[in-house]
Amino acid sequence: MPKVLFYPAGKSGDVPEGTSILDASEQLGLELRHDCGGFATCSTCRIMIVDGVENLTQIDLDEENMLEEAELPKPFRLSCQAVIRGDVVLRIPDPEMNWSKGALRELDALSASSRAVIRVMVEARARKAGEEVILPDTAIPAVEKAKAEVEATGQDVAALAALIKQVCGDL
Ligand code: FES
Repeated sequence: MPKVLFYPAGKSGDVPEGTSILDASEQLGLELRHDCGGFATCSTCRIMIVDGVENLTQIDLDEENMLEEAELPKPFRLSCQAVIRGDVVLRIPDPEMNWSKGALRELDALSASSRAVIRVMVEARARKAGEEVILPDTAIPAVEKAKAEVEATGQDVAALAALIKQVCGDL
């Protein structure tokens, strides 16, 4: 059975394949908001996918429209619509979370290697600071800083490697 982990509640467990994220949360004793009752018409059940996006069913048109209408960027899914097929790590968004849609979109537009480098750098800094390591919502300013540093290397592979070494050096 697929394993599901919800941050920051720290709830985890196995759920049958084919369970929606919303149903999984209920099975694990969590209460996620779902104002429209699971009909993809409210977006209050939004959840951030930290890992295992490939283990969820594809976004259908109704969900895509609702995510777009709510201006929710890529890591988000509607928990009432996304069905679990394998292990996933999920983040329940803080209602007060001030994530920057613009910053996430910009990050999305970068090459996969740049995103990977940024991820390594932000995670390394978060670990050093003793913070929970979750991207992309840990700290958007941290992502922006890493992005600026990566862009300053001009995609020079040796410079990117040196940057990673410098940031992660004493880990
Ligand atoms: S509960 Fe309303 S969209 Fe999921």
